[in-house]
Amino acid sequence: MLGPMIPGVWRINVFLLLIFMFSNASGTYVGVNIGTDMTDLPSPADVVALLKAHQISHVRLFDADRRMLTALANTSIEVMVGVTNEEVLGIGQSPSKAAAWVTKNVAAYLPETNITAIAVGSEVLTTIPNAAPVLVPALNYIHRALIATNLNFQVKVSSPQSMDVIPRSFPPSTASFNSTWNSTMYQLLQFLKNTGSYYMLNAYPYYDYVKGNGLFPIDYALFKPLPKNKQIIDSNTLFQYSSMLDAMVDAAYYSMKALNFPEIPVLVTETGWPWLGGSNEPDATMGNAETYNNNLIRRALNNSGPPSQPKLPINAYIYELFNENNRPGPISEQNWGVIFTNGTSVYPLTLGTSDSNRVNASETGLFCVAKPDADPIALKAGLDWACGQGQANCSAIQDGQPCFEPNNIYNHSSYAYNDYFQRKRSSGGTCVFDGTAMTTAINPSKCHQLLWFFPYSTISAAFNKNMYLIFLQAVVHAYSLEGESLFCADIFLLM
Ligand SMILES: *[C@@H]1O[C@H](CO)[C@@H](O)[C@H](O)[C@H]1NC(C)=O
Ligand SMILES: *[C@@H]1O[C@H](CO)[C@@H](O)[C@H](O)[C@H]1NC(C)=O
Ligand SMILES: *[C@@H]1O[C@H](CO)[C@@H](O)[C@H](O)[C@H]1NC(C)=O
Ligand SMILES: *[C@@H]1O[C@H](CO)[C@@H](O)[C@H](O)[C@H]1NC(C)=O
Ligand SMILES: *[C@@H]1O[C@H](CO)[C@@H](O)[C@H](O)[C@H]1NC(C)=O
Ligand SMILES: *[C@@H]1O[C@H](CO)[C@@H](O)[C@H](O)[C@H]1NC(C)=O
Ligand SMILES: *[C@@H]1O[C@H](CO)[C@@H](O)[C@H](O)[C@H]1NC(C)=O
Ligand SMILES: *[C@@H]1O[C@H](CO)[C@@H](O)[C@H](O)[C@H]1NC(C)=O
Ligand SMILES: *[C@@H]1O[C@H](CO)[C@@H](O)[C@H](O)[C@H]1NC(C)=O
Repeated sequence: MLGPMIPGVWRINVFLLLIFMFSNASGTYVGVNIGTDMTDLPSPADVVALLKAHQISHVRLFDADRRMLTALANTSIEVMVGVTNEEVLGIGQSPSKAAAWVTKNVAAYLPETNITAIAVGSEVLTTIPNAAPVLVPALNYIHRALIATNLNFQVKVSSPQSMDVIPRSFPPSTASFNSTWNSTMYQLLQFLKNTGSYYMLNAYPYYDYVKGNGLFPIDYALFKPLPKNKQIIDSNTLFQYSSMLDAMVDAAYYSMKALNFPEIPVLVTETGWPWLGGSNEPDATMGNAETYNNNLIRRALNNSGPPSQPKLPINAYIYELFNENNRPGPISEQNWGVIFTNGTSVYPLTLGTSDSNRVNASETGLFCVAKPDADPIALKAGLDWACGQGQANCSAIQDGQPCFEPNNIYNHSSYAYNDYFQRKRSSGGTCVFDGTAMTTAINPSKCHQLLWFFPYSTISAAFNKNMYLIFLQAVVHAYSLEGESLFCADIFLLM
């Protein structure tokens, strides 16, 4: 048997993760918010596996959870961390608290964890108005702490605001901030301008549509085309608005312009649509949520801005990754998630950056494996069924084939179960196998593939050991460039 038991065997694992990230070449992206107010939150490692499986390239955390930030290390996923509203008051009154926060929650993780932004508080002006006077000081102290640690160019600082700070957002050209916060807003925008940051906006067409009570057609909220005689037009500018989100983002641009800050980019830190609601929430449906979020992605990756700022693309974070079943409020409040904790999509969400590499998310990221505590006899029965009647392709787990090792019932069953599940699930195949199977986000089929077996001893006259290693790495690299499906290659070197 090959593997760690043979003394003198060197083993190089080459993991070739072919991840097409959920962003396009010009940098436009759609990220996802990760709320955690739920009873069955998966472990941080499982959350990160799900993010990868669903090709999510940007996430926003509402806090700076140590375990999540550690799990996100070395992943190339960009991370926005949050100063919670509870923390804002203290930080806004104490530069040393701000410095300690940055040291503990940001500096400690960079560069392995790619933290690129800090959201200071969440809708502070509308949820804790008494903290308004310390909001901009908090941003300033955090920024100064970043300067002191030399991170100010990598990490942007801002503070997400609700659309409620703009009392009348339509028509966009006449929108302005509620004058109650004139001076705070002015200071905030001055800060964002000086530091090259962005205005963080939480924009929910769902709520405006529902509150509008029929004022706007639902197709407008869902980014669907409107009939010729029902176009939404701003009568001052004659700009035609093809979606409510475009109009909301433009309302923010015009509000900033009214205070003389014409070009601070808007970043949509939260948007989304609930897929389930109570009997008095008829618009919270699976179909609407699927339409909204898929069209949002299409809209954002289109790379154009809203009518007043066509060159500033709309980057956005979907609210949210999981359903948060512990959140208080109406039923819809607990059903904004796009992925169940077992890894299945709540509804198909078209991820990807162009039509050529778009994948159907409900078909990726979910694998079927043997339960670790399943009875071996039941597993053997499941294995035989999968490879026989189930028509799984079990040739790779036969003696001498790439997935024979590790040669035990758990690994062989996992391989066969997963092969069956991937082939048959679209036609109703399940991951049950008499209770011996379970789904996971970790691919069980990345078995050892023996690419090259070229004992060093036979050619030691020609190469020294280091050259031999470099040569083998080059071979593996070339091989990987050829076959996209190759997931993991092991090389055993007999020294
Ligand atoms: C990230 O990768 C580096 C280099 O491979 C390694 O030293 C570090 O321990 C990793 N960090 C974490 C948190 O896994
Ligand atoms: C982190 O994200 C920034 C912004 O996209 C990118 O320029 C940088 O290369 C990333 N850093 C790492 C280590 O991946
Ligand atoms: C502006 O905000 C204040 C404080 O929240 C509120 O009382 C007032 O009604 C708002 N103004 C408008 C026009 O909505
Ligand atoms: C807020 O600013 C606007 C525009 O500059 C101005 O018209 C308004 O009077 C100001 N309101 C207060 C309360 O300062
Ligand atoms: C994409 O951008 C073009 C040019 O700005 C625009 O005409 C088109 O309507 C946009 N499509 C979507 C789906 O927003
Ligand atoms: C995943 O969980 C959801 C919600 O609990 C459930 O409806 C679905 O059937 C599960 N999928 C699988 C493959 O277990
Ligand atoms: C079964 O899988 C092997 C590789 O593991 C492949 O060579 C073979 O063509 C497959 N057979 C069928 C019928 O798909
Ligand atoms: C074999 O099974 C064990 C236990 O289920 C698992 O940890 C391991 O990753 C599997 N190995 C392979 C190569 O699939
Ligand atoms: C994605 O795949 C699922 C299951 O195979 C299918 O029901 C669904 O219609 C597909 N969605 C799209 C957008 O192709």
